[in-house]
Parts: sequence; structure tokens; C-alpha cells
Amino acid sequence: MNKMRWLGAGAVAGSLLFAACDSGNASNSSNDKAGDKVAGEKVYNTKGCNGCHSTDGSQRTGPSFKGIWGTEVELEGGKKVKVDQAYVTRSIKEPGTDVVKGFSPVMPTLQVSDQEIADVSAFIESKKS
Ligand code: HEC
Repeated sequence: MNKMRWLGAGAVAGSLLFAACDSGNASNSSNDKAGDKVAGEKVYNTKGCNGCHSTDGSQRTGPSFKGIWGTEVELEGGKKVKVDQAYVTRSIKEPGTDVVKGFSPVMPTLQVSDQEIADVSAFIESKKS
């Protein structure tokens, strides 16, 4: 269904190559990666996350990352989900699956590696208070 959402991601993908170099062994991919919040901040800034997500509590197109880690968010349909790495991973890989209540499902499928997801999770975790 949303398999062809990559179209707009080309421009963003260019900066990915650039960002991937400084994480060294970024290519081995199991899912228990330790994230690095400094690398995660770079992902946040270079992948366009910052265009839709603030870290200061202000609402943009998407919810702010401030203070969400470890909390339960309510989704469209009433389900509640805890914000952890699994949820962040799902939010990024399948943006249409868990839609936060009150928001439109407009988040694009971005080309982000598992390592970058772990890093951006650590970054979001660092904004929890
Ligand atoms: C075009 C705007 C847009 C961009 C770019 C975008 N997002 Fe989103 N994102 C949204 C919207 C809107 C939602 C809320 C609706 C939903 O859950 O799908 C959301 C939801 C989320 C959530 C769940 C938040 C919560 O409060 O539960 C996470 C985590 C997330 N995005 C991470 C990211 C990351 C990481 C990036 C960059 C790689 C990114 N987003 C880029 C629009 C965007």
C-alpha cells in the first residue's frame, strides 16, 4: 500500500550516505543496538524529522519529542502505546500503523537505517525531561 512512498526521499537519502560514515560499524544489523544520542540528533536534523517534530514541546505537523519517552500515548482508535524503541521503530518504518490521536497520518516513510533508528531513539530518550 505505502510501498512507493520513497519518491520524495531521494533528496534526503543523499545526506544519509554522508551521515552513515561516522558511525563506523553501522552496517551490522541486529535489533538490540545501542543508540547514540549525539548521532541521533544528527539524524533528527538531517532527515527532516525536525521539520515536523520539535524538542521543546511546541507542536508542529507532528507531536513534539519532548517528554514522550516512557510515557503512554493515545492512538487514533483509543489504543495506548508506550513510547520505547520498538514503538519509535514502528513509527518510522510503518508511519501509518500507529497514528497518534489528533494527528494526521502524514509522516512519510523515510529511509533510515536500524542504527539511525536506535540513535534517534536515544535522542528522543534524552529529551524525556
Ligand atoms: C512530514 C512531517 C513528518 C516528518 C518529516 C517526520 N514525521 Fe514523525 N510524525 C509526523 C506526524 C504527523 C506524526 C503523528 C501521526 C502519526 O503517529 O503517524 C508523527 C509521529 C511520529 C512518532 C510518534 C510520536 C508520538 O508522540 O507518539 C515518532 C517517534 C516519529 N514521528 C519519529 C520521526 C522521526 C525519527 C522522523 C525523522 C526520521 C520523523 N518522525 C519525520 C510527521 C512527520
